[in-house]
Amino acid sequence: MPNSAKVIVIQLVVWYDFSAVDSDKSGFVGGKNMKEIIKVTEYAQMITEALPRGILLNTKNVKFNSMIIGWGGLGTVWGKPAFTIYVREHRYTKAQLDSVGEFTISVPLDKPIPSIAKICGTLSGRDVDKETEACLTLEDPEIISVPGIKEYPLTLECKVLYSQKQELEELPNDIRKKMYPQDIDGTYHSANRDAHTMYIGEIVAAYIIK
Ligand SMILES: Cc1cc2nc3c(=O)[nH]c(=O)nc-3n(C[C@H](O)[C@H](O)[C@H](O)COP(=O)(O)O)c2cc1C
Repeated sequence: MPNSAKVIVIQLVVWYDFSAVDSDKSGFVGGKNMKEIIKVTEYAQMITEALPRGILLNTKNVKFNSMIIGWGGLGTVWGKPAFTIYVREHRYTKAQLDSVGEFTISVPLDKPIPSIAKICGTLSGRDVDKETEACLTLEDPEIISVPGIKEYPLTLECKVLYSQKQELEELPNDIRKKMYPQDIDGTYHSANRDAHTMYIGEIVAAYIIK
């Protein structure tokens, strides 16, 4: 490769890394609404505190779907900024994730919106169209194929790097009995019989929808 071409390749890599995720300079990009590019680490406390109250995990295959998650983790894996999620076997979301390998995380800047939390946390995409039911305003993504949500504006676009189903036998007894009772039907969308699959997603873009 000629030296001039090498310089162009190196410059593209540097631009991508710093502008999309970890920029010291905030910027704005377009879309239906404006998006303010953010440095994820500056919002780590907000994201971590919002998580147990319920944030949104969005997927899109045949259709867009959104489900509430309360477990997850922001961090670094293989030198990449990452968001890890835990999805039970029978969630509609799991089939979507396994087909497409991309997801967005949507975090409210204030309190969760009760109607969205209820619909996305108790109904399944198998039975309802949550975009319509929960009156979600979708925003076109920047890099992946899954939209963000204006009502929960802090958005992380993630590409799945790795997934692994939990081995229930490896869990401490008390957690296994409490979180994974085996004497119930696992197919009901709110059932808690089945193991979670962990998905580690590389954060490839982070912004707030304005
Ligand atoms: C506060 C809260 C947190 C939740 N956290 C998770 C989670 O981390 N993982 C999971 O698989 N389900 C979780 N759920 C359950 C799903 O949101 C729920 O089963 C949803 O209806 C699944 O939607 P889907 O079938 O369209 O994927 C949570 C529900 C609530 C209310």
